[in-house]
Amino acid sequence: SETYSYVKRDEKYKKLTEQDIEHFRAILGKKGSLITDEVPSDLDFYNEDWMRKYKGQSKLVLKPTTTEQVSQIIKYCSEQNLAVCPQGGNTGLVGGSIPVFDEIILSVANLNKIRSFDDVSGILKCDAGVILENADNYIKDNGNYIFPLDLGAKGSCHVGGVVATNAGGLRLLRYGSLHGSVLGLEVVLPNGEILDSMHSLRKDNTGYDLKQLFIGSEGTIGIITGVSILCPPRPNAFHVSFLGVESYEMVQKVFQKAKNELGEILSAFEFMDKKSLQLTKSHISSPEPLEDEYPFYVLIETSGSNAEHDSAKLETFLSSAFEEELVLDGTVSSNESEAKNLWSWREMIPESSAAGGGVYKYDVSLPLKDLYSLVDAVNEKLEAAGLSSITDESKPVISAIGYGHVGDGNLHLNVAVRTYTKDVENCLEPFVYEFVSGKKGSVSAEHGLGFQKKNYIGYSKSDQEIKMIKQLKNIYDPKGILNPYKYV
Ligand code: FAD
Ligand code: MLT
Ligand code: ZN
Repeated sequence: SETYSYVKRDEKYKKLTEQDIEHFRAILGKKGSLITDEVPSDLDFYNEDWMRKYKGQSKLVLKPTTTEQVSQIIKYCSEQNLAVCPQGGNTGLVGGSIPVFDEIILSVANLNKIRSFDDVSGILKCDAGVILENADNYIKDNGNYIFPLDLGAKGSCHVGGVVATNAGGLRLLRYGSLHGSVLGLEVVLPNGEILDSMHSLRKDNTGYDLKQLFIGSEGTIGIITGVSILCPPRPNAFHVSFLGVESYEMVQKVFQKAKNELGEILSAFEFMDKKSLQLTKSHISSPEPLEDEYPFYVLIETSGSNAEHDSAKLETFLSSAFEEELVLDGTVSSNESEAKNLWSWREMIPESSAAGGGVYKYDVSLPLKDLYSLVDAVNEKLEAAGLSSITDESKPVISAIGYGHVGDGNLHLNVAVRTYTKDVENCLEPFVYEFVSGKKGSVSAEHGLGFQKKNYIGYSKSDQEIKMIKQLKNIYDPKGILNPYKYV
């Protein structure tokens, strides 16, 4: 297809044979652990990404149930030069989780057991294919802990998948990056060897911290089969506030004030522009957070150990924000279902922005003061090119919207389109990447590079850094069988 016109299948990879399939069948044994093209539609879910933007042509999905099986599969693939695409929940947003050509899909979905949970230390050990929400529920029910990462895809994405992408999510502001909370990993290396590094130590300065290499490696250097992670106690009280704000300038002021005045109970600070909310409004039917429309909205979550104390603190913060005219309107949740509803207005933006046909996604880090200027610049560029209109259905672009994790300096620029076209893509790229690089930002804050951004790593990493990434890849995966055609 058009998307793949600039990459070609590398003929060094063997094409799958009946004997290979028989070999895998013997390893897996169980029925249902291996999906072939006998019924071609059975492969569809695994070959297509969440955005329905990328489509692979794999003829085989393997779903092992043990690390040992993963090891045997990968050892065979390495010997036979069979390329493999590791897959978790397939919610990734850069086309990294699906094959480009006929790579075998190795789904870890059936590696889905909780291995242990220590309710004194808060250390969870689980298989990589445990769904994030299931892990969170398990530790909630077994000691009142919380998974140190939350995101809109929690019902589908895997613990191993979020580690493989080093996902950031909605509470990074509070709990930090997975580079801090992951204590150990079990990984099947590209030659089939098992790296057992499932440690449970907070402090361990005995040589290179090898697990870090796999956090954010996007399936290019090993298959994560187990995760050991430190989970914080679950706060007893959550409050969510949704505010209408006049300008992006004011969003920053509210953020500064929230950090100072809500301090240790601030657990999320998210923002969205008016168009994000409008697109969401046309897609979901939940009660609207505020009566009127505002140029920007802020969602603040507090969580702490004492509901009364937290709510008094939030009330004081909000009344002074109104008095200082930083905020134009606002609401605070008074129970769990209201809190969930307010969160849904933020968490449903990704789905809503794709609902009109498709979406070009740019997930960037920028200095806070420049964060929103990219959205303005892109809207101007699209309009000048005559490509964009909210009402005129003959135009490919509906609108460019901006939302994201202000607290982490992470903007999501989403260009909602009626259809994907080369004109739109050429208008956006490399413009967006040049803009970000010009401001010393990152072209991927949290989604990774995958296939979509494979050619743009140079906007955020130096030649020396890229050289070392390639050297590491060559040491551990000299045959290049893991996730080829992606960013490394
Ligand atoms: P997949 O999509 O299956 O895979 C992602 C990448 O990791 C691929 O390159 C794949 O090859 C590799 N991979 C997966 N599992 C393994 C494994 N076990 N071993 C080795 N490699 C593996 N991201 C954020 O950072 N923050 C957000 O707030 C956020 N919100 C989202 C909201 C929605 C609605 C959606 C659809 C996505 C969101 N994401 C967000 C994207 C995010 O990258 C994924 O949701 C998540 O990190 C991917 O997990 P997954 O299990 O679906 O992995
Ligand atoms: C989010 O913050 O909602 C996610 O990263 C997903 C997205 O950007 O669409
Ligand atoms: Zn995000």
